[in-house]
Amino acid sequence: MSWHILGAGSLGCLWAARLTAQQHAVHLLLRNTQALHRYTASRGVGLSDAQCMHSHYYPIPAQLTDDPQPIAHLLLACKAYDAEAAIAQVKQRLRHNSIVILLQNGLGSQQAIQSLLPNIRCIAASSTEGAYLAEPFHSVFAGSGHSWLGDLQPLTHAAPTRLLEAYNAAAIPCSWSPDISEHLWRKLAINCVINSLTVIHNCLNGELIRHPTQINSLCDELQLLLCSAGQSAAAQDLQQQVWTVINKTAANSSSMRQDVLNRRRTEISYISGFACAQSLALECYTPVLHALHAQLQDTLRVHGLPTA
Ligand SMILES: NC(=O)c1ccc[n+]([C@@H]2O[C@H](COP(=O)([O-])OP(=O)(O)OC[C@H]3O[C@@H](n4cnc5c(N)ncnc54)[C@H](OP(=O)(O)O)[C@@H]3O)[C@@H](O)[C@H]2O)c1
Repeated sequence: MSWHILGAGSLGCLWAARLTAQQHAVHLLLRNTQALHRYTASRGVGLSDAQCMHSHYYPIPAQLTDDPQPIAHLLLACKAYDAEAAIAQVKQRLRHNSIVILLQNGLGSQQAIQSLLPNIRCIAASSTEGAYLAEPFHSVFAGSGHSWLGDLQPLTHAAPTRLLEAYNAAAIPCSWSPDISEHLWRKLAINCVINSLTVIHNCLNGELIRHPTQINSLCDELQLLLCSAGQSAAAQDLQQQVWTVINKTAANSSSMRQDVLNRRRTEISYISGFACAQSLALECYTPVLHALHAQLQDTLRVHGLPTA
């Protein structure tokens, strides 16, 4: 299959390397000629295991987003706040039967993209895999996980069996979900609690056990919000799920905390920001959630980072 990957960061390089290793025709889409020159001068896309014991380099071709080549399968692997602008750059290269896979965390960007591409099949992914960049274009596969994929406009297509088989054969463990919104909302709620609090308290996930009252009240409000948003399946046992993730990932530093420690913009608007906006739109009373979001914004401000 032929793939264009927009966003040659941690996840984009990870997926690019694995698809290339399985003989897929992969092209990286780079932002500008400077990025293209930097990539051309590198050894290609690098992929290392978690211990960085083994590294492989893949000479994957790269092009600019405005290249005229049509795109059959697009993997959008940029951050949520870059997603709409990135899609606008390649929109004219998509055809009526193209497929766009969205890897963004949180919620909000996926719906914005589907409305920019009303007649194109957009599949959202919710992934628990972990990767980081050791250097530009060199991804370290830090944690294996699973990806759920599903249509943003469900009931319009059958499950893309060939695509799922191709991913699984390329060591990208994934399953199809007829209701991806359930996975996205559940992950949003869990991230709202864990990502936000680990930034506010500047701690590892496991250290959140010191804040049980705040966590449990947040879970109660988020459960209410999810139910108001028609996501009662995602709301089920939320508190228990949050505590399970905290315990299972006790030694991890959350992705949002990593962003802050690395002085990078966070995806706050697509996590607690999205949840607060929804609670207002649905007139769902969530004072603890709003206080959390404001406290997170204050913490970002102290670090000199954008609050949206
Ligand atoms: N990494 C993980 O473990 C992981 C796991 C699950 C979900 N996710 C989600 O996956 C998404 C991507 O995460 P990531 O960690 O891979 O991010 P990342 O390392 O920051 O990579 C994003 C890449 O997208 C590029 N980009 C942005 N706009 C572009 C444009 N218009 N044209 C070309 N390239 C563009 C960026 O280039 P510049 O550097 O030039 O800006 C950067 O190389 C996020 O929403 C994240 O939350 C990540």
